[in-house]
Amino acid sequence: MNRKKVAVIGCAGKMGQTLCRYLLSHDDYTLAAGIDVTRVGDDLGEVIGFGSTNIKVASNLQAVLTEAHIDIAIDFSTPATVVNNAAICLQNRIPVLIGTTGISSEDATKLENLAIKMQTSVLIVPNFAIGAILMMEFARKAVKYMQNVEIIEMHHPQKLDKPSGTAIKTRLGMLDELNQLNRASTEDNIPIHSVRLPGLVAHQSVIFGDIGQTLTIRHDSLNRESFMPGIGLALKQLTTFTGLRIGLELD
Ligand SMILES: NC(=O)c1ccc[n+]([C@@H]2O[C@H](COP(=O)([O-])OP(=O)(O)OC[C@H]3O[C@@H](n4cnc5c(N)ncnc54)[C@H](O)[C@@H]3O)[C@@H](O)[C@H]2O)c1
Repeated sequence: MNRKKVAVIGCAGKMGQTLCRYLLSHDDYTLAAGIDVTRVGDDLGEVIGFGSTNIKVASNLQAVLTEAHIDIAIDFSTPATVVNNAAICLQNRIPVLIGTTGISSEDATKLENLAIKMQTSVLIVPNFAIGAILMMEFARKAVKYMQNVEIIEMHHPQKLDKPSGTAIKTRLGMLDELNQLNRASTEDNIPIHSVRLPGLVAHQSVIFGDIGQTLTIRHDSLNRESFMPGIGLALKQLTTFTGLRIGLELD
């Protein structure tokens, strides 16, 4: 089988570097290009601590997509840059997997329309950790029985968006389960508390309370490798549909 050529956008960042190392050891994918605004011109292998790869960090996404014959792009850049990057990929009919968080629903709709127009796909996954996806499913189940619930999400201080995409998705999932999505804009309806501290990676507790008892569903990503199996799953799903999907399907 021909290995698919993947471009990593944001390759010099924390997630981008971990993802590049993962792709270099993957049987089904080839790390074919890295795009970033820092470390431009450096050997990508040196950037990720892997020795030489003969791939230079590039800054011009459009040029890379055509010159390196990319099959799939993955974005781990910033909330301010991801939509433009994804739009460039879609305009080139290249399916794009988005791990970057903080995309508004309006921007997601714009990307959906573009993906449909270009007959390709965009998959937005706010959290690739499989345990976090299970946490969201368990929270949906619990809220049917315990409706007093709050979310605490905790991340490293460099995280740009607040609250986290996972916390928002957890909350919307529970409101959906209660047929209360129309109340999603009411802030005190399932409050989200955000903590940003050094030492943290990505953690979330969903705490339910009732008379004389509490139930806590907690997930911890202890390092960035925790996101890689979910990225493998997402890459398989990415080319199976046209348009936009949000979140990973585990079955
Ligand atoms: N979906 C998930 O499971 C998951 C997990 C962890 C982090 N994230 C998200 O991934 C994103 C990246 O996180 P991080 O910790 O790696 O951040 P980071 O700041 O370490 O890396 C971001 C990288 O993007 C680069 N960049 C900025 N503008 C760019 C542009 N126009 N084109 C290309 N690259 C550009 C930066 O130079 C940097 O190297 C954040 O939104 C974060 O919330 C998602």
